[in-house]
Amino acid sequence: MNYSKFPRRHYLQGPTPIEFLPSLSQALGGGVNLYVKRDDLLPGSGGGNKTRKLEFCIADALEQGADSIITCGAVQSNHCRLTAAWSAKEGLDCHLILEERVAGSYKAEASGNNFLFELLDVKSIDVVPGGTDMMGAMGAKADALAEAGRKPYIIPGGASNAIGATGYAVCAEETMGQLNAMRLMIDHILVPSGSAGTHAGMVVGMTGVNGGIPISGVNVSRPKDVQEEIVFQLALETAERLGVENAISRDDIVCFDQYVGPGYSLPTDAMVEAVKLFAKTEAILLDPVYSGKAAAGLVDLVRQGHFPKGANVLFLHTGGSPALFAYMDTFRQV
Ligand SMILES: Cc1ncc(COP(=O)(O)O)c(C=O)c1O
Repeated sequence: MNYSKFPRRHYLQGPTPIEFLPSLSQALGGGVNLYVKRDDLLPGSGGGNKTRKLEFCIADALEQGADSIITCGAVQSNHCRLTAAWSAKEGLDCHLILEERVAGSYKAEASGNNFLFELLDVKSIDVVPGGTDMMGAMGAKADALAEAGRKPYIIPGGASNAIGATGYAVCAEETMGQLNAMRLMIDHILVPSGSAGTHAGMVVGMTGVNGGIPISGVNVSRPKDVQEEIVFQLALETAERLGVENAISRDDIVCFDQYVGPGYSLPTDAMVEAVKLFAKTEAILLDPVYSGKAAAGLVDLVRQGHFPKGANVLFLHTGGSPALFAYMDTFRQV
């Protein structure tokens, strides 16, 4: 596809690796060959998926003459960390609105991403209760900054609009290029599905290059039908932006919601097991909120025989490991 007409910064240093996971494949049994796409190794302080989206969102902000970025996320948001990181690198001020989705969960002195917000010189943090209208809160912040003479630009939660999702259409195309070069036939791709830009962008990119590999999402918060509809709508918008002519149908969007557990960011035993399994078999660090729950889905689907014997399954590792340090008690208890 042709992305050259869109403003873009170049934060990547090349394709992220695709690796075979022999020990994990063997540990899970079921004759499934597991592979991982290492977006946890993307540049940016601590790595992870938002770097791909921010190449396009921050470029758009710069093109509009912004000097300040406003974004939002949960209290341990990886997206906020990476937005702060790339803003710092670009000489932009970064302001965060953090949503306390679990009451009482914000601790100013917390470690993990919260500590990194501080280190990356975030200019302000406003903490709001769960359920707050986040676009409204960011709009109010933008008004205040504009009144003070600044030029604010709002990046939505997770950078999940059509601009940000473009980064994951690029990723799907990059992945197909690597698989063709490796002559590796992948039967299924599994991705974490949160604010939906990763999942939607991957589907759009896969459709755009006619790659034909089914992509499923593992939800981190919402019920299946709700998440699938959000991903679908964003995929349609992104496909329109990119001029993808092949149709994307509602059936192309599939999510699993049985690995969410009690709610967003709340640990599950399966997540803890998956994080430990990836660490001890492949020395790969996941995170407790996104890639850990998605990996719990991968582990369970393999064990259930969801993928046929001999299938090659690619797991998109979207990063997030700095959040592990805010959850050490969870891993030591189980
Ligand atoms: C580490 C990590 N993985 C996956 C996701 C989910 O990606 P998306 O929000 O694009 O659905 C996020 C979102 O913040 C994340 O931080």
